[in-house]
Amino acid sequence: MSTLKVLGVAGSLRAASYNRGLLRAAVELAPTGMQVSTFDLRPIPMYDADLEALGVPEPVDALKQAIREADGLLIATPEYNYGVPALLKNAIDWASRPAKGSPLQGKPAALMGASPGMAGTIRAQLQLRQSFVFTQTLCMPQPEVVIPRAHEKFDDEGNLTDESTRAYLGKMLEAFGAWVLRVRD
Ligand code: FNR
Repeated sequence: MSTLKVLGVAGSLRAASYNRGLLRAAVELAPTGMQVSTFDLRPIPMYDADLEALGVPEPVDALKQAIREADGLLIATPEYNYGVPALLKNAIDWASRPAKGSPLQGKPAALMGASPGMAGTIRAQLQLRQSFVFTQTLCMPQPEVVIPRAHEKFDDEGNLTDESTRAYLGKMLEAFGAWVLRVRD
């Protein structure tokens, strides 16, 4: 069976970001038969329909192509003010175009997130799920990866060090592999 290609994006630019670290951990913990690569959202400009009409900017085109080529999308989201950070929402807005036939349409996706607070990004994740109804992105319902008190589970460089969280992430990635195959069938 061919290797499942999963594209990972993180909604933070911070060097020691917990969510960038979570994505790095996913790259390391991908099960046999799955490869996780990452896409950096830094070069993506703010969505502007006039810009889009002139021709999709190169970094956006690269993002859309990477999503199109991936078997699944893995998102690590921080939570800002009970919602999805602008960086990530902006990337989703670009990728959601055109509404009919966007690379997000029919794409299997899995969500995860870490925050120092007690709710561990669950509100941001629910907002993402809501957007993915419109984009027809097929979000895996369970297991959820919601990591509260992240400062106790990551080191100062943002590496995920907590062993039980790493084990849980590995199980989620296994479940995501099964979800991708199920959705594809
Ligand atoms: C936050 N933070 C935060 N945390 C949370 O659990 N719920 C929230 O609503 C918010 N709101 C919020 C707004 C803004 C503007 C900032 C900058 C931060 C804290 C946030 O979880 C923390 O900064 C994380 O470390 C951000 O994720 P990364 O960068 O570590 O991946």
